Amino acid sequence: MSGVEAAFCRSAPWRGFARRVVLPWALADVDLSGAVLEVGSGSGAMAEANLVRHPDLRLTVTDADPAMVAASRGRLSRFGTRVRVALADVTDLPYGSGTFDAVVSFLMLHHVVDWADALPEARRVLRRGGTFAGYDLTQAPIASIVHRVDRSPHRLYGVEELRTGLVEAGFKDVQVRPSHGGQLVRFAATA
Ligand SMILES: C[S@@+](CC[C@H](N)C(=O)[O-])C[C@H]1O[C@@H](n2cnc3c(N)ncnc32)[C@H](O)[C@@H]1O
Repeated sequence: MSGVEAAFCRSAPWRGFARRVVLPWALADVDLSGAVLEVGSGSGAMAEANLVRHPDLRLTVTDADPAMVAASRGRLSRFGTRVRVALADVTDLPYGSGTFDAVVSFLMLHHVVDWADALPEARRVLRRGGTFAGYDLTQAPIASIVHRVDRSPHRLYGVEELRTGLVEAGFKDVQVRPSHGGQLVRFAATA
């Protein structure tokens, strides 16, 4: 991620917006419970919102950037044993097969140049019947220009490309829904 994105990701306005607007929208049709893994969690804004919203959730919060992991660890310490924070690459998760009831991914897959490798990995760590859900930017013009300007590593993708990737990774009940004039995409799929 670029420095600008990293600063935004840690900011108080983003945390408030994530809690009030983004999380309820992103998971509108998803019922989270049990053991949940968040991949690419940044500074923990969405994790914090999920832990407040679902008091029974046990959340494992991961990111590939040590600075983001440290920020999440500080932010989420008040939730005690309900949360674990770890350094982990979504394409090579350090968890056994069938460990989680759900995997969530918010605004992060396009930052993974090999995002297609993240999909089978998310499926592997889910129990049979578990849910993979989240949202991301698409390769619509605005996101493409912003990422070209800030020069952060990324690979934006289209709605159909994501749908195909999820099916090829072995997910069932694949729902991929464009939103906000095609700038964003929400997805949910069953392992
Ligand atoms: C735009 S931020 C989104 C953060 C958070 N999900 C949110 O909504 O506030 C993208 C995050 O993905 C992380 N990331 C990028 N590549 C990753 C990878 N291969 N595995 C895990 N996390 C990754 C980045 O370090 C960054 O924290």
